Amino acid sequence: MENTASKTRMAELSALLNRYNTQYYQNSTSEIPDYEFDMMLKELEKLEAENPGLAQPDSPTHRVGGSVSKSFAVVTHRYPMLSLGNTYSRAELTDFDNRVMKALGEPYQYICELKFDGVAISLRYENGLLTCAATRGDGVRGDDITNNAKTIRTIPLSLPDAKNLPADFEVRGEVFMPFHVFEAINKEKEDIGEAPLANPRNTASGTLKQQDSAAVARRKLQCYVYSLLGDNLPAKSHEEAVKLLEEWGFAVSPTWQKCSSLDEVFEYIDKWEKERFNLPLAIDGIVLKVNSYRQQEELGFTAKTPRWAISYKYKAEAAATPLEGVRYQIGRTGSITPVALLKPVVLAGTTVKRASIHNANEILRLDLHEGDTVFVEKGGEIIPKITGVELSKRLPGAQPIAFPNNCPDCGAELVRVEGEANHYCPNENGCPTQLKGKIEHFVQRRALNVDSLGPETIEQLFELGLVRTPADLYDLTEEKLLQLQGFKAKSAENVMQGLENSKKADFGKVLFGMGIRYVGNTVADKLATHFGSIEKLASATFTELLEAPEIGEKIAQSLGAWFAEPANIEQYQRLKAAGLQMHREIKEIIRESEALAGKSFVISGTFSMFSRDELKEKIEANGGKILSGISAKLNYLVAGENMGPAKLEKATKLEIPIISEEQLLQMLQQG
Ligand code: IVH
Repeated sequence: MENTASKTRMAELSALLNRYNTQYYQNSTSEIPDYEFDMMLKELEKLEAENPGLAQPDSPTHRVGGSVSKSFAVVTHRYPMLSLGNTYSRAELTDFDNRVMKALGEPYQYICELKFDGVAISLRYENGLLTCAATRGDGVRGDDITNNAKTIRTIPLSLPDAKNLPADFEVRGEVFMPFHVFEAINKEKEDIGEAPLANPRNTASGTLKQQDSAAVARRKLQCYVYSLLGDNLPAKSHEEAVKLLEEWGFAVSPTWQKCSSLDEVFEYIDKWEKERFNLPLAIDGIVLKVNSYRQQEELGFTAKTPRWAISYKYKAEAAATPLEGVRYQIGRTGSITPVALLKPVVLAGTTVKRASIHNANEILRLDLHEGDTVFVEKGGEIIPKITGVELSKRLPGAQPIAFPNNCPDCGAELVRVEGEANHYCPNENGCPTQLKGKIEHFVQRRALNVDSLGPETIEQLFELGLVRTPADLYDLTEEKLLQLQGFKAKSAENVMQGLENSKKADFGKVLFGMGIRYVGNTVADKLATHFGSIEKLASATFTELLEAPEIGEKIAQSLGAWFAEPANIEQYQRLKAAGLQMHREIKEIIRESEALAGKSFVISGTFSMFSRDELKEKIEANGGKILSGISAKLNYLVAGENMGPAKLEKATKLEIPIISEEQLLQMLQQG
């Protein structure tokens, strides 16, 4: 491409990508499918590589990361990153308020905010461009994590449309991992047989410290900002600053509130004490800030904290209860997880009977003894954790809890891989719990989706010796199933039908269902596309495996080891013979007509003649375009049964024609 043409195209792509990004993160809508977004991003990356001189510092390509550094440079903060005084009681807040009242001797207001439990970040903008992002460090100096911060999509890389922008200013905020992202990562970890991460805060902190910014980008961190610093700011109060930040395009949590009295502050505290469990991220208290900048200045600072702000921390919900025992759960890949069995106790409104202990090191760290009374706490995570032991209640002669040497199910001697915290049962093809776990994994919704086969049925099938491996499922017959307790013709038929349907499942799902260690859903999908068939994957060399997208040495080794096992080869050959999909066709769209050329469609609901995917294919085969979200530029919404009310409302509001499946087919015939 000509240099000027490249420049124009690069500017066009940047503008579009930035717009889609903002819409996605601020309005939760996507105008185009992810695939198209990725293609545009790839095109921009390519142009930047070809024309390095034209690459812009705020290019949306920085969002995907890429550079790997050995260590972070150190940045001295222009304004020290202070901490806040903590209070735990209303009496202490009243004392704080009295001090403020006395020092100011005039009316004042507070802004109440939530105290987000993430990692503090400082962002410097010069002439509208993000030039430096730093961690708090010791408050005076922090790490330069600019490349990592650029991958966080709620942090603007530039502020081209912002009004009243100071030439040089800093923004402070909190980087966090939303609960749903954290839970998805742990689900994926569980899928691939890895130990789960402890909590979103530590995960966010660990992620920001990674040297590979592409890895940071995959973690989907977010950032809420809560202060603006600089000379000659166009704001006279914290409230004005927060509103400006939002206008300029930063993400500000909408939970802040202006309070004119301490009673209003207490109401805010009460409200969020209850509602905090409905937020997308963890908070550990609230922050109270005097609103006026003039008054803030008058109040000043102590050596470490401002005199105009303070935090009130919610007490972590904790309880003490006796430990009744420890159960050792065996995962499908053999990993052993200790779980504390507790005397039931009410915590944050729910009865707690179990707490996770993670691994053997944790038992040692807590120095758990039999019959100990333990403290349990519920943080942001779903499963409560043990935070300590009430030593005064330790029973005389109580023995330390000893991690077993042998698998509690099959008795095999446990192994511990060098450098890993988890113990494993190595009896992969003999340990009953592992075998049943592998079948449960195979039939789960995100794999082969045989929902008529629940854990109890699998247990019975296993006990009766009818099924030991996923491939055995396809040797089942209705007669065999009728041997199961409580099984009538209908339930047997449902299982057979479920198994029959699973033969249509995509190769990626089958690969995921086979339960190869470290091969989660995403990796399985990438492998299916890259290799196209099980035979090609099975015969790939280590180097060839590493050439596939997102496959590192750990996964390649695991794949190599799996396919080297004759029992596993027999498994996939039997699954293939049973009719499961063991290859992926790359579908090429064959053009049928141009009847829908230039028209865009969103499909929603369920349809009677075609499946959603078939309808999409049909539209594309006739020149139409599929969009994923409703916007003013959409031409038609194809509505089926049970479509979401939000979509319907939005389309009606934007006066977008809503058509049925039949009307769509008529359009095809007319065209
Ligand atoms: S204001 C001068 N506002 O709490 C104090 N901090 O102990 C500036 N934090 O390091 C901080 N939510 O990481 C402020 N709404 C909020 C906050 C908040 C969380 C964290 C922040 C800071 C620590 C202070």
